[in-house]
Amino acid sequence: MTSQIIPVQSFDAVLFGGTGDLAERKLIPALFHRERDGQISDPTRFIGASRAELSTQEYRAFAKKALKEHVDESELEPEVVEKFLSRLLYVPIDAKSDKGWKKLKSILGNGDEEVIRYFYLAVGPSLFGDIAQRLNQFDLITANARLVMEKPIGRDLATACDLNDTVGKYFREDQIYRIDHYLGKETVQNLLALRFANALYEPLWNSAHIDHIQITVAETVGLESRAGYYDRAGALRDMVQNHLLQLLCLVAMEPPASADADSLRDEKLKVLRALSPITEKNADKFTVRGQYKAGASSGGAVKGYLEELEDGESNTETFVAIKVEIENWRWAGVPFYLRTGKRLAQRMSEIVINFKPVPHSIFESIAGTPVSNKLVIRLQPDEGVKQWIMIKDPGPGGMRLRNVPLDMSFAEAFNVRSPDAYERLLLDVVRGNQTLFMRRDEVVAAWNWIDPILQAWEVTGQPVKSYTAGTWGPSTSIALIERDGHTWHDGEE
Ligand code: BG6
Repeated sequence: MTSQIIPVQSFDAVLFGGTGDLAERKLIPALFHRERDGQISDPTRFIGASRAELSTQEYRAFAKKALKEHVDESELEPEVVEKFLSRLLYVPIDAKSDKGWKKLKSILGNGDEEVIRYFYLAVGPSLFGDIAQRLNQFDLITANARLVMEKPIGRDLATACDLNDTVGKYFREDQIYRIDHYLGKETVQNLLALRFANALYEPLWNSAHIDHIQITVAETVGLESRAGYYDRAGALRDMVQNHLLQLLCLVAMEPPASADADSLRDEKLKVLRALSPITEKNADKFTVRGQYKAGASSGGAVKGYLEELEDGESNTETFVAIKVEIENWRWAGVPFYLRTGKRLAQRMSEIVINFKPVPHSIFESIAGTPVSNKLVIRLQPDEGVKQWIMIKDPGPGGMRLRNVPLDMSFAEAFNVRSPDAYERLLLDVVRGNQTLFMRRDEVVAAWNWIDPILQAWEVTGQPVKSYTAGTWGPSTSIALIERDGHTWHDGEE
């Protein structure tokens, strides 16, 4: 088999927030992996930029340490590490003053229109406008320049619109790449392959055959020194507005006419616009808010959320479960259950498609009741797909039905390292491929649906229900699904 790893043309990437947590844990390791696979062409440069007063040598030392901590030792071949580090430069820069911008300009030069350069905003959104404005002031935005925005893109519809307007003054929409790193995950892309490269599923992918769908993104981590941001955000803004809704869109959208960015994003947008509204009239019935209290997670005792905060008081949700329907022909009457939370029993993200039972069972009296088919798409860990089907229990002993998985674990099946989401996304920016990035109208539509939920919680004062760290969330989340006769799929199968 020939290698599918095709080098991208050379580029300059400026990482604002270059010494921050995201750069250290995700961006630098991701770029290194692409270097290692030979995808980065000369004379590509990665330019770290932040307020820290570092020299390029010191930044290279920072990056080397990041690689040691976040890349498997066996992958750190000295010559590749050296090559990668030699691409790194550093500029101390202040987003709020003119400091450092001339130096950045002298590094980037006037910019051949053909040369791709991108600016990655791995900084708080309050700096997006300042940075975009200075990039413009110092004439750094060439025709081929791109802007990459990290979440949070707003904390509600109004702030998201402001942010988009601000960067929109300087960058065209086709230059803006809004990252939702869930879209770069291997299995998320596989969902597209599963749905649209097989004739098998699409005829069944509707309310005639699907009973309900569950989307779970469960984490075992707690606040991770992000209290300042997280306590103002909460799980609905942090996870549902972006990651879970994006997954929902990919599951529920109509087949696009082609795989180009806008065809796909047009279809996702239609899903977001068809979500049944949740307002103060029904929020209590369709949403559950939870907050973890002390318990055990990842094998050790952990503090409760409030104990992790400085002032020990908060009504912010660290867990949310939602029942939502999509008001269109394909999905009428099919509930989608979404749930996400911190300090849950297991780190596990998956989409479970629950098919309807067989219309008539011929086996009832002799072999038991057939279990409804289930398709489990596992995002992490152990990326893979399991199709549960009924078979006859092998061997003698007559007809007994058994529910077994057709199990495709990608790591086992292909013996490949599953690339981190950022590896793909960072190079898609260079390729100019916006398919896996959120378009402005998608962000607006997502907030349009989220805003009334936030307002409902505020107006009705819906309290958070506490749950013990290391469990699957508050009991009301179980009630949310069980009163419809279903149970959460807890990752064992
Ligand atoms: C981020 C959230 O977007 O996604 C974090 O801000 C969360 O709170 C993270 O922990 C989860 O990402 P992953 O890739 O580890 O599932």
